Amino acid sequence: MKFDTPATTNPIDAMKAVGQPADRVEGRFKVSGTAPYAYERHDLGPDTAYGYVVAAGIGKGRVAAMRLDEARRAPGVLGIVTAENAGPLGKGKRNFAKLLGGPDVDHYHQALALVVARTFEEARTGAGLVRVEYERTDGRFDLAALANTAPAVEGSSGEGSEAPPVGGVGDFEGAFARAPVQLDQRYTTPDQSHSAMEPQASIARWDGEKLTLWTSNQMVHWGVVDLAATLKIPEENIHLASPYVGGGFGGKLFLRADALLAALGARLVKRPVKVALTRPTIANNTTHRPATIQRIRIGAERDGRIVAIGHDSTSGNVAKGRPETAVAQTQMLYAGANRMTAMRLAEMDLPEGNAMRAPGEAPGLMALEIAMDEMAEKLGMDPIEFRILNDTQVDPGKPERRFSRRHLVDCLRDGSERFGWANRNATPGATRDGRWLVGMGVAAGFRDSPVQTSGARVRLGRDGVATVETDMTDIGTGSYTIIAQTAAEMLGLPIERVAVSLGDSAFPVSAGSGGQWGANSSTAGVYAACAKLREEIGRRLGFDATDDLVFANGEVRSGNRSVPLADAAKDGDLAAEDKIEFGDLDKKYQQSTFAAHFVELGVDAYTGETRLRRTLSVCDAGRILNPKTARSQVIGAIVMGIGGALTEELAVDKRHGFFVNHDLASYEVPVHADIPRQDVVFLDTPDSTSSPMKAKGVGELGLCGVGAAVANAVYNATGIRVRDYPITPEKLI
Ligand code: MOS
Repeated sequence: MKFDTPATTNPIDAMKAVGQPADRVEGRFKVSGTAPYAYERHDLGPDTAYGYVVAAGIGKGRVAAMRLDEARRAPGVLGIVTAENAGPLGKGKRNFAKLLGGPDVDHYHQALALVVARTFEEARTGAGLVRVEYERTDGRFDLAALANTAPAVEGSSGEGSEAPPVGGVGDFEGAFARAPVQLDQRYTTPDQSHSAMEPQASIARWDGEKLTLWTSNQMVHWGVVDLAATLKIPEENIHLASPYVGGGFGGKLFLRADALLAALGARLVKRPVKVALTRPTIANNTTHRPATIQRIRIGAERDGRIVAIGHDSTSGNVAKGRPETAVAQTQMLYAGANRMTAMRLAEMDLPEGNAMRAPGEAPGLMALEIAMDEMAEKLGMDPIEFRILNDTQVDPGKPERRFSRRHLVDCLRDGSERFGWANRNATPGATRDGRWLVGMGVAAGFRDSPVQTSGARVRLGRDGVATVETDMTDIGTGSYTIIAQTAAEMLGLPIERVAVSLGDSAFPVSAGSGGQWGANSSTAGVYAACAKLREEIGRRLGFDATDDLVFANGEVRSGNRSVPLADAAKDGDLAAEDKIEFGDLDKKYQQSTFAAHFVELGVDAYTGETRLRRTLSVCDAGRILNPKTARSQVIGAIVMGIGGALTEELAVDKRHGFFVNHDLASYEVPVHADIPRQDVVFLDTPDSTSSPMKAKGVGELGLCGVGAAVANAVYNATGIRVRDYPITPEKLI
């Protein structure tokens, strides 16, 4: 099905199943431990072996010698994979650093070997007996030191979403210089780690030439393609299954070392092999969100209208890696005739930087939305009114291109009312509650809602149960549930009569989970397959092709005639497969999501400790397919945003080139219990240009702007403007 004109009324609009706060259909499996995560297949036989990764102990250099004898003789060890015996390896398109290093070491904790043994403990012991001698060379590990010479680049986010145009509109420098009110500030964000609860983990099994890989991956098809390219085998020989994913956040968009090494290990020892990255290797072995150094300039008239806005961001990455696209939102969030955005990229020898939830947008808004707060203060304006005054309904760089729907102003006004913004004391450091300095902050959230081709297969069985199959993944987001709701709506079935199978390369290729395109695109693919199935059902039940069929309550109805749906499958199952393909509506209209985030917090006047009191997010994110799972996405994102604001930082050892705090004891992430109250409101804003579902993404929107709302609240509480994240206590005392 091609989607190239705005959606009119369609069966989803009935909203009997879609739009309901359905419980997660797979929730029971997860909480009872019966959902098989990647490492948790126990049915592969007693032969199943365990691999333990030997990760490089230097940041840059080469392996002078690797002595394996002792490890080989260790009890239980079955074999050791290294670059020397792995055979010729290609490289997938999406990872930049090599997944198996040696003799050259490109970054700290790059995998150099996999020790395979009968048990996990034996593999770990064996790995400890691998003797590696290194020749260390100097590396480039200090972004600030490289920033001045970093060349300007174009770039896209690692999710593969569109490249933000870098450049300018009008005369930024001139207009900024002439503006009566000016802000010129520098902001920094640190390297961050995805910190998914489930580590990268895989089990590989070869049956002759055929490889089956159970893994934890957001993008099943990308995984197949890149693994085939790396192993130099045909894609058809790979069966990849990722039915449950314990969090990804972008860290599992791409093929990683666990998957490749499991495949190589299984080939070497001719048994199924399980590999999980240990928590302490994840930060340096996998990808991270790169640090940024950003300069923002805003020039405004005295009445608050922005006349010039400029945003320049520098980040680092490995050779051929991408910049963190932190300036993208500045191109379209606020009006202003003269604009400039630029990105610079320093080549570095730290581990590979790549997509992490709202790549680019999250750190970009952490800076821009503090700058807006600072500018409002300079103008003597309320920060909400300043944002509203500078709202735009068109792309300011291409005024003929409108936002399909943009309700940021409603988000701000509605949130202001609900949150009690009027009670905020605009004077910083003036509100006290015992030992706590109390403050409120606000920030805008803005994230695009891209779409991707997405396929699905739907079958109706004799028992009246519909089964949906697609390689779409559920990374904790609720894909199973919203897909079940979509099929239930389309076929007029209760959700209990829909079975959903996901995350398997044997199923039609979907959009996958990334770039907050998953929910809208994958359900639209299911819509397309169901639309085809409805036609087939109509034919089987003897309806006329021109009849207007209504599918409801397990029946198919037209005029006075109504037939049980299951009758269509009396003589055998019916199946239909289709995919949604998107035309150029997303070129004609800028399709985006918006939010207003409000934060109230206290800062301990003596220790500088910040404690959240409450948050409110008002979101404009298209039709909400399931308000319960969508809310969970947003509150989870807010927790992540608060981590980004207050605690999260991969500390770089600039001499030896690695992230020092590579575990969850020292890379601190908050949990829900750290935030006593989180409210989420969704405006009802179905978007007929986004897909037949009229939905958009929400999983990354929730993170966009949160960090700045916290920083602005900290400023309101204390009068201290922190521009270097995270806002740790020592910056406040
Ligand atoms: Mo992505 S950073 O997994 O949407």
